[in-house]
Amino acid sequence: MAPGPVKYGPFEYAPSPAHPTAFSLLHRNKPTLCAGCHEFRTASGFPALTTYSEWKAGPYPAQGVSCQDCHMALVLGDTARKEVKTRQEGSYRFINLHRLVGGGSLGQLRRALDLRLVAADVRDEGGYVEVEIVNTAAGHKVPTGLPSKQLLLSVRALSEDGRETFAESRIYERQVLDDRGAPIRSDGEIFLTAAKVVSDNRLAPGEKRREIFRFPIRPGTVKAEITLAYRYRPPGAAAPTLQKIAQEVRDLRRR
Ligand code: HEC
Ligand code: HEC
Repeated sequence: MAPGPVKYGPFEYAPSPAHPTAFSLLHRNKPTLCAGCHEFRTASGFPALTTYSEWKAGPYPAQGVSCQDCHMALVLGDTARKEVKTRQEGSYRFINLHRLVGGGSLGQLRRALDLRLVAADVRDEGGYVEVEIVNTAAGHKVPTGLPSKQLLLSVRALSEDGRETFAESRIYERQVLDDRGAPIRSDGEIFLTAAKVVSDNRLAPGEKRREIFRFPIRPGTVKAEITLAYRYRPPGAAAPTLQKIAQEVRDLRRR
């Protein structure tokens, strides 16, 4: 990091009327640029943020797919120098999107994950739902980054009038404790006192996960509703943010 008036980028010749520019090899589609912030060890050496190493351990480096390929897609856009525009067709050219969208965008989440309903049925007094969730397009684990980001898979059985006769949720997350073995109390503590991983059941790049939910059939149950959602729940925050990624509904009445 070198804060100041000079703007660095991947082009060797890119003068700007607004500020000095300089070429930087690091910016040339290099994941190490992102690793500077998206890979972090605490002072005592605990790997607090591991997005870069999750990417490194997955299939994407071998395919030449870097962070920027997914997060800085080519879009039509405006450039600072007019002559650059006019030399291209029309008045726009392709530029790399700098918005860096991730879990904050429902579009990215829907692209990243697939929810497939494999089977749902009733046998004797019991019902069951089998689903598969797939990390189809994230270059690292889902969720990645702060441990307060979670993936939530919920199954509900419902009666005709919408009454809940069964509900169960499974959570995919990386659970972390501090150096005294206590739960982390804020997102900030991740960078300071995080010391131990208790569990990690997040989805690796490309991974498919099958889950079976079994439940007793209570009178009036007619359907099952399966929901995959992304939850950001910083410890201590009043209410979590929840984004619904996908939902499936299946009729459970016998034909
Ligand atoms: C100087 C530090 C820094 C660098 C370098 C950096 N990031 Fe980030 N990035 C952050 C921080 C801090 C956040 C969290 C912001 C928030 O959650 O509000 C973030 C968030 C993100 C998000 C999530 C946005 C969302 O929708 O939630 C994505 C995606 C991302 N960065 C991708 C990248 C990529 C790709 C690179 C390399 C080209 C990169 N970042 C380089 C600091 C950095
Ligand atoms: C194959 C495409 C792909 C690659 C490669 C990739 N990402 Fe992502 N990334 C995604 C998608 C899709 C999401 C949205 C789903 C999610 O949040 O996990 C995402 C989410 C994120 C988030 C947001 C997590 C949050 O808080 O919700 C960050 C930060 C991020 N990526 C950083 C990186 C960095 C750094 C790299 C390189 C080391 C990288 N990504 C490589 C596709 C990719």
